[in-house]
Amino acid sequence: MRADAGASLSGMTIATTRAACLALDAADPLAARRARFRLPEGLNYLDGNSLGVLPAATPARLSQVIAGEWGEGLIRSWNAAGWIEAPRRIGDQIGRLIGATPGQTLAADSTSINLHKLLAMALSLRPGRRVIVSEADNFPTDLYIAQGLIAQLDGQHELRLLPAGASAADYEAALGPEVAVLMLSHVNYRSGAMHDLRRLTAAAQAAGALTLWDLAHSAGAVPLALDEDGADLAVGCGYKYLNGGPGAPAFLYIAKRWQGQARSPLTGWFGHAQPFAFEPDYVPAPDIAQALCGTPPILSLSALEVGIEQFEGVDLVELRAKSVALCELFIALVESRLAGQGFVLASPREAARRGSQVCLRHPAAWPICQALIARGVIGDFRAPDILRFGFAPLYVRYLDVWEAVSELEQVMRSGEWRQPGFQIKSKVT
Ligand SMILES: Cc1ncc(COP(=O)(O)O)c(C=O)c1O
Repeated sequence: MRADAGASLSGMTIATTRAACLALDAADPLAARRARFRLPEGLNYLDGNSLGVLPAATPARLSQVIAGEWGEGLIRSWNAAGWIEAPRRIGDQIGRLIGATPGQTLAADSTSINLHKLLAMALSLRPGRRVIVSEADNFPTDLYIAQGLIAQLDGQHELRLLPAGASAADYEAALGPEVAVLMLSHVNYRSGAMHDLRRLTAAAQAAGALTLWDLAHSAGAVPLALDEDGADLAVGCGYKYLNGGPGAPAFLYIAKRWQGQARSPLTGWFGHAQPFAFEPDYVPAPDIAQALCGTPPILSLSALEVGIEQFEGVDLVELRAKSVALCELFIALVESRLAGQGFVLASPREAARRGSQVCLRHPAAWPICQALIARGVIGDFRAPDILRFGFAPLYVRYLDVWEAVSELEQVMRSGEWRQPGFQIKSKVT
């Protein structure tokens, strides 16, 4: 297999037999975590970077919240069951996964809405600066939100995009005195490429700009140290590695030093200093609560809380080590068993520059992905030609990697991906 970004494997010993993969699972300190998830029988799920697996504890927790807290407690549960504190409480739990001390993270709204709020706040903190720097291959919603915000403001701002795969040095060179915000996804959704958060944060700040990081593909998979790295603002998804369920609330991070400095553009009552004073005039909360808008979705937040609880007691360095090992194993097996089948590695070869997913480019990526799904191996497709495999280290086994490559080999050698049924495009890929 050729690689887009050439570099050698990191020198790990790669398991080359099924038995060796079983031995790796037996020695895996995180192996027992898998039992905390409801993985459908016979399914090899490599899409936890898109929608995380249902934690076994979620249905009972939701039943209790619905029947007990809502059904019996009704309105009293806002206080008695701690509903009112849920965005902060769950935010602080997420904070532990992203290196944020309490009071800087909220579970709220969607990633898109949080991007809107935080980008507007960042721009207001840099009046006179007109440029938002981002990446052409950033997740589209990030770019669309920036475009929409520019149109809503005075139209004088500019979204300046560096090409996909631009290096840290390229970003450093792009950070002139006109730049207000550097807005990037830490791990790219399509390629899995990971930026150097600490280095780019420092570079942006040295140029007088703020950083807004999208951690959708990092939180719960890659150890983060937002406080230590001096991050300004960040957002991320609750339904990917955090296992909060489809459309789960997202999160946002505002470093303490910026709280009270900028106003959210969505000045709903939950961001008011005293929501239950019911004053006619808006007075922003002095702290992170200012980034809240309306009534928090308690059922969804309850599911998200269970998802995050699955990380309790997990050493994030160990988690990352397993994620890297799973990805390396996948790459090595694809290289040795699928040589000559037209796959190109679309993720960085160097583990340190990659998140927890591996992407393969192939002209027939869509039908190959469908043929794999028919065999019970769930990855996904990203236009125009990418097969994406996510390795959520809480529940993916080394054996799953082995089996996935075996199935992929079967799909290619049999040519079954050519079947007409696999060519039909679905609405959601
Ligand atoms: C990097 C990134 N940001 C944002 C989103 C989605 O945002 P939202 O939850 O608002 O749809 C995704 C979804 O896959 C993503 O990959």
